[in-house]
Amino acid sequence: MVMSVGSFRRMANVDGVITPLEEARVSILDRGFLYGDSVYEVFRTYSGVPLFCHEHFDRMDNSARLIQMQIAQSREELLDEMRRTAAAAPVPPEQDIYVRWHVTRGTGPLDLVPTTGLRSSFVLIVKEVPTWNPEFYTHGTRLAVTHTRRNPVEALSPDIKSGNYLNNILGVQEAIALGANDCLMLNPAGIVTEASNSNAFFVIDNRLVTPSAHSGVLRGITKAAIQRIGNARDFTVQEADIPVGELARATECFITSATREVMPTSGIRLETGHWREFPPGGGPVTRRVAEAYKEDV
Ligand code: PDD
Repeated sequence: MVMSVGSFRRMANVDGVITPLEEARVSILDRGFLYGDSVYEVFRTYSGVPLFCHEHFDRMDNSARLIQMQIAQSREELLDEMRRTAAAAPVPPEQDIYVRWHVTRGTGPLDLVPTTGLRSSFVLIVKEVPTWNPEFYTHGTRLAVTHTRRNPVEALSPDIKSGNYLNNILGVQEAIALGANDCLMLNPAGIVTEASNSNAFFVIDNRLVTPSAHSGVLRGITKAAIQRIGNARDFTVQEADIPVGELARATECFITSATREVMPTSGIRLETGHWREFPPGGGPVTRRVAEAYKEDV
């Protein structure tokens, strides 16, 4: 089965070999497959233009640095491969696409210790931008505070965007079992962190706040853009440590990522099992931020 969408095919590129997505293969000795020993990024395009492309490459460099991995391919080489992959689809001009790329520490002996001389491998995926359930925007997502805690910064920093998402998978599975769409994970000290693959913002005591980097979150590029946009416009985002108890005073919540943009949250299931409800489709602050982000991108 060829997975196509609109007028182009979903494509992959494994170390320069371009194929339809479903035909792409990696070695079982690839450390990304064996150990999650890899880093990755996702961006999307708007009218054919990648958004925050360089910020994503910078974050990948930071993730690689934090796991002491050398990326053998230059940024220019990877960008060229992205262009070749999109051309093979072929993606029509102006068509918005989702681009995901993983860089793994490479293929080598079946040994946890990364041997010297490994050369990083890359996998690129070009496909349509995901379409979220429209109700997540008209009404909002439902989040649940889970027992599954976010990885502590000192163990596996959430600031490393690695190919190991088990912590996030456990969180979202638990949240779904609790009747929510996604998790809101705490760090081991009970401080709010993030959802499974998005950053979270809250209005608490009339302040727009988001968990600080040292709470243990991925430094979201959408989150940083919202902070910048707010500074240039009429709202301010404060980074703060948000103890879980403060959620009972929250009056709005939304989540952000490259593919979700600004997505309202209509309710949070607290640890007590009680749901804290928010205005459907987002309260005034959420709507203002969503509108400002849309205008800006
Ligand atoms: N996820 N937190 C986590 C754990 C994430 O995986 C992501 C991104 C974010 C938001 O980051 P950004 O604003 O830079 O997209 C926060 C991507 C979109 C994904 O895994 O598909």
